[in-house]
Amino acid sequence: MSQLDSIQKRAQEQFDRQSANYGKGHILADVDDVKAALALVPPSTGRKALDVATGAGHTGLYLAAQGWQVTLADLSPAMLERARATAKERGLSVETRQHPAETFPYGDATFDLVTCRVAAHHFSSPEKFVRETARVLRPGGALVLIDGSVEDGQPEAEEWLHQVEKLRDPSHARLLTPGAWTRLCEVAGLRAAHCELHPFKQPDLNWYFETAATSSENRARVLELVRTASPAVRALMRIGEEDGKIVWWWQRLTLVAVKG
Ligand SMILES: C[S@@+](CC[C@H](N)C(=O)[O-])C[C@H]1O[C@@H](n2cnc3c(N)ncnc32)[C@H](O)[C@@H]1O
Repeated sequence: MSQLDSIQKRAQEQFDRQSANYGKGHILADVDDVKAALALVPPSTGRKALDVATGAGHTGLYLAAQGWQVTLADLSPAMLERARATAKERGLSVETRQHPAETFPYGDATFDLVTCRVAAHHFSSPEKFVRETARVLRPGGALVLIDGSVEDGQPEAEEWLHQVEKLRDPSHARLLTPGAWTRLCEVAGLRAAHCELHPFKQPDLNWYFETAATSSENRARVLELVRTASPAVRALMRIGEEDGKIVWWWQRLTLVAVKG
C-alpha cells in the first residue's frame, strides 16, 4: 500500500481501534438507504462493483448478496477482517483489498459500480477519490455516494457540525455540501444524475460518543457546542431532547453520478 498521509493514518488508527463497534448492532447495518440509491442507478450489463471504505462491509456485502462481483476496500486491516468474517458467516464470496480511497490499485475502466457510504468525510482528498472513481469506472458505470452533508449556503451550520464531528472523532476531515460533490464529479467527468439530501435522525449523542470512543474532555466540549448553538443552527439541525437523550437531525446525501 502507498505511504499514508497524516489524515489517512489517523483514520486507520481510529478504525483499527474501534472496528468492534461497527458490526451487527450498528445503525449502518440497516441498508435501506443503499437499496434506495441502487434503484436510481442506470441498468448496466456488467456486475463488477468496488465498495470504497467498506468498513464492516454492510454496503459491499449487500451488493454481493444481490449477485454483484464485489471488491471490498478499506485502509483499516481490522475493518477488512471484520468484513471478511461476516462474508464467511453469510456464505458470500468477495475480494478484499487494503488501500486508501485516494489511490486505487486498479486499471482504468475496471468496474461498473463504485459505492462509498458514510466514509468520505474522513478522506484527506475527496477530489482524488472522485478522480480515481471516474478512472476505474467503465463508460456508463456509476458512483453511488452516501455521506453526511449539510445544505449549500449554510456556512454557520456547516462549521458547527464540523467542530462537533472533529471533537467526537478526530479522524473526521470534512463534510461536503451537495454542490461541492457535484462540482467534483463534473470536473472528473462524472454527471450527477441524482443528488438529494435526506434528513436522518441522530438518536442519541451518548451512543454516538461511545461508537467513536470520544474522550471525556471532547464530550464536554461537544455538549457545550450543543448548549450554545445559535437559534439558526438549533432550528436547522432540529436539536432537541427525548427521554433524557440529546437528539438531532442531520442531512444524509445520496449522490448517483454516471460516467459518460
Ligand atoms: C463508518 S465506516 C464505513 C461504513 C461502510 N461504508 C458501511 O456502509 O457500513 C468508515 C470507514 O472508512 C474507512 N476510511 C476512512 N478514511 C479512509 C480512506 N482515506 N481510505 C479508505 N478508507 C478510509 C475507515 O477505515 C472505516 O472503515
